[in-house]
Amino acid sequence: MAHLFTLSELSVTEIIRLLEDAEQFRKGHFWRPPEPMFIANLFFEPSTRTKCSFEMAERKLGLHVIPFDADMSSVQKGETLYDTVRTLEAIGVNALVIRHSQDAYFEELRHTVRTPIINAGDGCGHHPTQSLLDLLTIRQEFGTFAGLTAAIIGDIRHSRVARSNAEVLTRLGAKVLFSSPEEWKDEANPYGTYVDIDTAVAEADVIMLLRIQHERHAEKMGLTKEQYHERYGLTIKRAKKMKANSIILHPAPVNRDVEIESSLVESERSRIFKQMENGVYVRMAVLKRAIEEGRMANGNYFEKWQ
Ligand code: CP
Repeated sequence: MAHLFTLSELSVTEIIRLLEDAEQFRKGHFWRPPEPMFIANLFFEPSTRTKCSFEMAERKLGLHVIPFDADMSSVQKGETLYDTVRTLEAIGVNALVIRHSQDAYFEELRHTVRTPIINAGDGCGHHPTQSLLDLLTIRQEFGTFAGLTAAIIGDIRHSRVARSNAEVLTRLGAKVLFSSPEEWKDEANPYGTYVDIDTAVAEADVIMLLRIQHERHAEKMGLTKEQYHERYGLTIKRAKKMKANSIILHPAPVNRDVEIESSLVESERSRIFKQMENGVYVRMAVLKRAIEEGRMANGNYFEKWQ
C-alpha cells in the first residue's frame, strides 16, 4: 500500500527500511523521481515543523509543491475533504500530505483514493512521521530499540504522538512507561505501564515529554502552569535523577517551563532540535516510498503515455 496512515500498518522491516533511507538522506544520498512529480500539503490544523519539514523534504527531492491554503480553498465554501482530495487527484497531484483535526479522517479515503496519502497527523489519532523521526533520533543515540525504556509523560489521552510511539516502540522491543495526570490517562492504550513521574524519569533511557493539547480539551486544565510543572513536568531537580546516558525528546511546540524547564530544552541531554532536523530526512524517505509504491500501484501512469 502506498498510503501511510499509521505506523501500525507497516511491518518492522518496512519501518527499519524507512529509517535506513532517512539515514542515507542525512548522509547526503541523492535520489530523484524519474519524472516530474507534484505534491500538495493539505494542512487543516496549524503546523510549523511538520509542514515546513515536508516542504523542505519535497524541495530537496526536486518535487513540485502545489500551494494549498485551507483558509483560501473551496473548503470555505463547504467542499468536503473527500471532494478536495479527489479534485487534487484529478488535477494530477502524485501524492498528498494531510493533517486534519478529525481522528482517522483517512478511513473514507483509504479505498477510494489511488493517489498516495501521507498522514501528517489526525486529531488525537496518529502522527506516523513524528514517530519515525523520534525512532531515528533514538536509533542514532542507542543503535537499537530492544531493551530500552521509554517514558512518555504528559497529556497521553489527547496525544497522537503518544499513540503512535507507544505501539511502535513496544513492537520494536522497548519497554514503555506512561506518566500523566489522572484525567489524561488513556486506558484504551495498552502499550504502556503507568508510573509516577519520578519513577519514569529515573528509569527511562528516553524521556519523551508531551505538549498539553489545550485545543483538544473539553474543559480548562484544573492546574496553573506552575502547578503542572511542579507535579508533572521535567524540573531541574527531576532532570538530575536521569540515568547517565538518557536523552530528552519532545515533539514540540514546547511550552517552556510547563512540561519542561526552559533551560533543559537546549541542554546537553536534549535532542529536541535534532528531532526537527531528522524530520526532514524521515519525510524524504516517506515521500520516496509514496512515489515509488504509488507508481507501481498505479501502473506507472507516466510510462503509459510515453
Ligand atoms: N511536532 C509537530 O507536529 O509540530 P507541528 O505541529 O509544528 O507540525
